[in-house]
Amino acid sequence: MDAIAWHDGALALLDQRLLPGESVTRRYTDCAGVADAIRDMVVRGAPAIGVTAAYGVVLAARQRYAESPAAWRERIEADLDRLTASRPTAVNLGWALDRMRGAIGAIPANIDPEPALLDAARTMHAEDVAANRRMGELGAALIESRCEVITHCNAGALATAGYGTALGVIRAAHAAGRIAHVFAGETRPWLQGARLTAWELVEAGIPVSLIADGAAAWAMRQGRVRWVIVGADRIAANGDVANKIGTCSLAVSARHHGVRFMVVAPTSTIDPGCASGADIPIEMRGEDELLSHAGARVAPAGAGAWNPVFDVTPAALIDALVTERGVVQAPDRERIAALLADG
Ligand code: MRU
Repeated sequence: MDAIAWHDGALALLDQRLLPGESVTRRYTDCAGVADAIRDMVVRGAPAIGVTAAYGVVLAARQRYAESPAAWRERIEADLDRLTASRPTAVNLGWALDRMRGAIGAIPANIDPEPALLDAARTMHAEDVAANRRMGELGAALIESRCEVITHCNAGALATAGYGTALGVIRAAHAAGRIAHVFAGETRPWLQGARLTAWELVEAGIPVSLIADGAAAWAMRQGRVRWVIVGADRIAANGDVANKIGTCSLAVSARHHGVRFMVVAPTSTIDPGCASGADIPIEMRGEDELLSHAGARVAPAGAGAWNPVFDVTPAALIDALVTERGVVQAPDRERIAALLADG
């Protein structure tokens, strides 16, 4: 099942808020609807929201060109801004929009922009799947012997254009006989681990046990977990990694227990404009996401909540960064710069 698809002139998104109970695909024909879908988490995961935003630009161009073939380029800026503002942490969103800006700039005057922009969005979509396959091979090769791993949030086919980043490595390593079993953290409060990762792994026939987020250190103490494998939403120039809230705790626990920590992300997730993790904007979501569950209040009236939905793991706690261009062992500023210079 595709999380993102272009069909009959419209964008089709699988509504991830309803999985695994219901598989509902929603159809989008205007850019405002796409920006709302990203903000409201119909689609989520850093690479997936980048590709989605690219298709949003196609829809914006269609509308703006129909309004005014002469002024569509100026008018579409408001749509690009709206898409940019839909979620702040994943840099893939801004990266995809910058690429679409480049494609807009290359379109000659008085030409319908939709075909060229659709081509650009489709290229990005296909490139992301290819990058994930490559990262799957590279990451699986780091896992020496059959073991158990922990993953967090959902960095699978649903969070990308297909196959997945962290789950791509897990798929490839399981196929090679190197991963026997996966612990998936449930990932409060949106339960991406319980609802999405466990679903993807069951579908793939990979043994998975759900754990409460707070159980990860205890799972590590049992001695069978060799790797924590996660995705990323933004990687700073010094190798600090923003990912789903709870990732930093996993990295601290992993170092304490001698478990290795792997981040799997395409180079589009690296933001050379952020010198360190301190510069990464961390999305804050509403208190109600924590104070309630399944529509019912779980905390007493009068209690507040603090709900950052990402955290930053310092580069010093990361053993390997796997990208489509290669593996960076013990990432730091120099090694990240060298990786980017190679491309
Ligand atoms: O809030 P979400 O579900 O968009 O958060 C997603 C994550 O944190 C993923 O781990 C990250 O985007 C990597 S996805 C390949």
